[in-house]
Amino acid sequence: MTETYELSNGVRIPALGLGTWLIDDAAVEAVVATALDAGYRHLDTAQAYGNEAGVGRAVRRAAVPREELFITTKLAAERKDYAEASAAIDRSLEVMGLDYLDLMLIHSPEPWADFRSGNHYFEGNLAAWRALEDAQAAGKLRAIGVSNFEPADLQNILDHGRVVPQVNQVLAHIGNLPQDVIAFDAEHGILTEAYSPVAHGAMLANPQIRAVAARYGVSVARLAIRFIQQLGLLPLPKAQTPAHIRDNAELDFTIADADMDALTVIHFADYGEDSAFPVYSGKRD
Ligand SMILES: NC(=O)c1ccc[n+]([C@@H]2O[C@H](COP(=O)([O-])OP(=O)(O)OC[C@H]3O[C@@H](n4cnc5c(N)ncnc54)[C@H](OP(=O)(O)O)[C@@H]3O)[C@@H](O)[C@H]2O)c1
Repeated sequence: MTETYELSNGVRIPALGLGTWLIDDAAVEAVVATALDAGYRHLDTAQAYGNEAGVGRAVRRAAVPREELFITTKLAAERKDYAEASAAIDRSLEVMGLDYLDLMLIHSPEPWADFRSGNHYFEGNLAAWRALEDAQAAGKLRAIGVSNFEPADLQNILDHGRVVPQVNQVLAHIGNLPQDVIAFDAEHGILTEAYSPVAHGAMLANPQIRAVAARYGVSVARLAIRFIQQLGLLPLPKAQTPAHIRDNAELDFTIADADMDALTVIHFADYGEDSAFPVYSGKRD
C-alpha cells in the first residue's frame, strides 16, 4: 500500500486509488474512512459524481495528514470554455473545502451527450487545458491530466499546450486493454490510470479469470487490480462494501509472466445493462 508512481513533473502518486463513482454524497464519507483505515491514500472523484463535498469532508476529518493523501477530481466534460473551466476548478476546491487538489483531469474530450461522435472539440479542450495549466501554475493543482483521451486528442494538447498531461485515465481491464492509448501515453511520459479495473463488476463471473484467481488463492477483483499494476498502469477500483475495500488493498502477490500473457489476450467487453453508459458503449473513433 506504500507503493507509488512518479509523474513526469516529479509528483508521487499512490499506486492504488479508490474509485467513488456511484457512491452517494451521504455515503461516501464512511466509505473513505474505511478505505483510509485499510491503508488507501488515493481517492478518485469527479464533479459529475455529485460526491465531491462528501469526499472533501472525509479528507478534512481524516486522522491522516492532508499531505499524505492524494485527491483527484475531474473537470466536467461539458466545460470547454476557459472562463467556465476556471470557475469550475475553483468551485471544486470550494465544494471540497480544500486548499489544493493533487490531480485534476478533463473528464472526457467530448461532452457526454456527444461521446465519440467524431467531433474532437479540439478548441474547447485547449481552452479547458489552459484553465488547468493556469490553476497548476497558481498552486491550486499539483498535477493535471486528461481522461478518455485518444491519441488524436492528446496530440492536440501536445501540439498546442504548454504542459504535457501528467495522467490519462482510461477504461482498461483484463479483457479490454486500449493498447494504442497505453503505448501513446508511455511514449510521452503520461501515466495511464485504469478505470473500471474490475470491468464495473462484469468480470466477476468470468470462468477463465476465476480459474486463474483460484490458483493464486485471491479474488477475481484482486487478480484484476494486481494485473493492472504489473502492466505499469494505476488501478482505480471502486468498492463500497467494507470487505471489498479491504480485499482490494491486499496486493502483495505477483502474477507469473505466463499468466500475465494469458490474461492479456483475453477479450471481453460486455457490460450488460451498463453498456448504456457512454464509457461502456464500445464507441471508438
Ligand atoms: N474517467 C472516467 O470516465 C471513469 C469512468 C468510469 C469509472 N471511473 C473511475 O473508476 C472507478 C472504478 O470503476 P467502476 O466503478 O466502474 O468499476 P470497478 O471498480 O471495475 O467495479 C466496481 C464493482 O466491483 C465490485 N467489487 C469491487 N471489489 C470487489 C471485490 N473485492 N469483490 C467483489 N466485488 C467487488 C464493486 O462492489 P461494491 O461497490 O458493492 O463493493 C462494484 O460493484 C470509478 O469509481 C471512478 O472513480 C472513471
